[in-house]
Amino acid sequence: MRRLVLGDFRSYPSLDLKLDGQVVVLTGENGAGKTNLLEALSMLTPGRGLRRAEASEIAREGGAGGWAVSVELADAGEPGGFTRQIGTGIEPGDGSPTARRCRIDRVLVPSARGFAEHLRVVWLTPAMDGLFGGPATERRRFLDRIVLTVDAEHAARVNALDRALRNRNRILEDGRTGRLHGSWAEAAEREVAAIGVAVAAARLDTVGRLTALIAESRDEASPFPWAEVALKGDIEALLAAHPAIEVEDMYRELLRKNRRLDMAAGRTSVGPHVADLAVRHGPKDIAAARASTGEQKALVVGLVLAQARLVTAMSGIAPLVLLDEVAAHFDPARRGALLDTLCSLGGQVFMTGADPAVFADAERAVRLVVTPGQVRVAG
Ligand SMILES: Nc1ncnc2c1ncn2[C@@H]1O[C@H](COP(=O)(O)OP(=O)(O)OP(=O)(O)O)[C@@H](O)[C@H]1O
Ligand SMILES: [Mg+2]
Repeated sequence: MRRLVLGDFRSYPSLDLKLDGQVVVLTGENGAGKTNLLEALSMLTPGRGLRRAEASEIAREGGAGGWAVSVELADAGEPGGFTRQIGTGIEPGDGSPTARRCRIDRVLVPSARGFAEHLRVVWLTPAMDGLFGGPATERRRFLDRIVLTVDAEHAARVNALDRALRNRNRILEDGRTGRLHGSWAEAAEREVAAIGVAVAAARLDTVGRLTALIAESRDEASPFPWAEVALKGDIEALLAAHPAIEVEDMYRELLRKNRRLDMAAGRTSVGPHVADLAVRHGPKDIAAARASTGEQKALVVGLVLAQARLVTAMSGIAPLVLLDEVAAHFDPARRGALLDTLCSLGGQVFMTGADPAVFADAERAVRLVVTPGQVRVAG
């Protein structure tokens, strides 16, 4: 990336930052705008970015109501020459404040999916700290982000499943008070089964690839332990033993059988929407949730590094890696190892921290100091 331009993005009224260097370190006081800057970069992907914000929350308070993020990328084919510009945002006064616009070289494209040809982004934020001990929703979301970085269609698939499930639940809910429309339920379940199997299959495919990649690059001595990952769920188990087309029929049959039960529960009890990503700490052979706080942090860093490698292997694009407040958790030796590994990935890396001392020995890094609304080169 050569340049980042922000307009009315959260705490930034306007910013125009030249960015070179493989490792970029952002330091500054709490509330200075470090995470906002990473979030801006994360908006250059399909979905809602690293804070999962509604597009309308992002506009700077006191601004005109719109916001914009754009970057200039060096075209890999032509070093030193051609640049590509990709950008997204909402125009002030736009009738639909949630629909962000996406442009490549200033030309409107239908969605952020088109960005994947030029840029992929992976991230790790403090919000992901409780990943292993927390609810399965978070782990599914984490997995879906991994799937999404290798398959830009996955976001649409997951949203479609959500809609299909809501539709079925509503039909069952209506059936609780009045008559259940069998043919409506049937149609809704056909939809849930078709999309559900597609979602489960895409996740399983990515878990399989990730597992293979982890096995290949497994290093018992690494400070970032290898993880054993598996997707657990009823539909996922069926997919391991039967062709997808048959699993679709089985799932539909299951949904039909469960109608009364689901009607009473007010939700659909079986499906990929309740699957869980089981993670184990490889070297210690224990469930990730049983590992210590520091071990869990190292494990999740290892997973994000594996995600970055997977993206590169599958797309040929080394992703941008955004690490929010990650470095401060590690001792100097681990920090050094992290920097080495990050450099070996080949893509640009952004790291934040409130304490500049944490990055004192990162000689290779470009250091930026963030103050409210501004970013300047340190020194
Ligand atoms: N839509 C918005 N308009 C204006 N300011 C906003 C908006 N959203 C968030 N902010 C402000 O942006 C500021 C910077 O937030 P950010 O999370 O980037 O800080 P940070 O440097 O990462 O701090 P920390 O070290 O505490 O993580 C906060 O004070 C927040 O109130
Ligand atoms: Mg922050």
